[in-house]
Amino acid sequence: MSKMDKKSAPSADNAPEWQVAEAKNRFSELMTKAFTEGPQRVRRRKETVIVTAEGAQTTSPAPEAFPLHALEPATERRVLLIIGGGIAAYKSLELIRLLAKSGIRTRAILTNAASHFVTPLSVGSLTEDKVYRELFDLTDEAEMGHIQLSRSADLVVVAPATADLMAKAANGLANDLASTALLATDKPVLMAPAMNVRMWQHAATQRNLKELKADGVTFVGPDEGAMACGEFGPGRMAEPQAIHDSILNFYAQCKAGRPLAGKKVLVTAGPTLEQIDPVRFISNRSSGKQGFAIAEALAQLGADVRLISGPVALPDPAGVHTVRVESAAQMLAACQAALPADAAVCVAAVADWRPQSTASKKIKKGADGPPPIMLTENPDILATLSKLKTDRPRLVVGFAAETNDVEAHANQKLSRKGCDWIVANDVSGDVMGGDANQVAIIRADSVTRWPQMAKTAVAGKLAREIAAALA
Ligand code: CTP
Repeated sequence: MSKMDKKSAPSADNAPEWQVAEAKNRFSELMTKAFTEGPQRVRRRKETVIVTAEGAQTTSPAPEAFPLHALEPATERRVLLIIGGGIAAYKSLELIRLLAKSGIRTRAILTNAASHFVTPLSVGSLTEDKVYRELFDLTDEAEMGHIQLSRSADLVVVAPATADLMAKAANGLANDLASTALLATDKPVLMAPAMNVRMWQHAATQRNLKELKADGVTFVGPDEGAMACGEFGPGRMAEPQAIHDSILNFYAQCKAGRPLAGKKVLVTAGPTLEQIDPVRFISNRSSGKQGFAIAEALAQLGADVRLISGPVALPDPAGVHTVRVESAAQMLAACQAALPADAAVCVAAVADWRPQSTASKKIKKGADGPPPIMLTENPDILATLSKLKTDRPRLVVGFAAETNDVEAHANQKLSRKGCDWIVANDVSGDVMGGDANQVAIIRADSVTRWPQMAKTAVAGKLAREIAAALA
């Protein structure tokens, strides 16, 4: 009852469920139009495909009735890359190349400002596709409309995401092709910000960042370092490899589906803060990024996640029940209240010690010189959870942040704390606060070393390993 002029029927057997469902929906819409309006022309990669409907009476055929072959092969992975106008735009060329090597096709939108930094010709040569630039170019009947363009990929990536593009996306502005595509898309969005450090730190950009995160946009970077403008600080676009890793992680998470549905997982994150007096405290440099990314990745796989975090400047991750605490004692109490759980992942950099007593008034300078601060040891949350007689989570994972002899120290921690795995990470570089992490997974009988990856990619991979262990 339906046919196409080209018979290329990609197998949907291995396609993730969401992709198959979407393909069915799109095909169903197309067939409805074919029934009511006659043969439909659709663009499929570089060819035009004619879809016709013959003989059937109904105008609303059931999606399941149709094969998927009017659409892109369901297994082809496609990214819509929006290249913003910044010096980092040149790195997007390398990103396209890396994605192609991993079998991911890129379709690119270039903003006007971006075309001052990279030419449409170089972008188009690498994507092997038309480069989209003007909103009103797309009114041509032969072209794909901007709505269709914004939905023609599995994921929209903005790299570099300039302050301007972030501001537009956060406020729903749509006055050019890039911002219109961002407003019209129904696909997940990943942004790789790049801008001058002051622009990044400006309250307006930070406000936009918060809004975008709340809207479900994910981020990779920015990195800290020397910038083209001569300043130093956060604002450099993440390296193409890190953006590529985050994109692969997106696909891996989609493919994994929701294997943790029905499972409850407890995650600790961030530093703890131990009060000395009402204005002073002991804490550490943990940003919470790795723990938050793990909580989010576990939730993406369907887990009911309880994230217990010390003070960090990060918004609650999407789909995660977040509990904010300050001290180690509060963190332990919140963990105990969250039991029973199927797994616990202790990522928090819990302060080892706290002042024996907290002064109720600000300690003043006196003639006797600096006051002594007597410290006492904090409870070990990981060890407490690992050694529980009842309600011990089936899988308890700890982290070991080390600056030297990483695996040896991690091995000792595995047996000392009684947990099942230790994720050992080398914090001698700029891991704390940075976006990349290199870890090894230490189990009683094995060590698995992972290459350096974006923290979000580490999180996704760890979440999938946890899902496999709980299966
Ligand atoms: N941890 C914890 N409670 C503590 C201290 C650490 O739950 N009071 C957990 C951390 O969340 C991490 C693991 O134990 O999963 C290792 O933390 P780390 O700071 O690397 O080690 P420490 O136990 O503090 O040991 P050391 O100071 O000797 O490195």
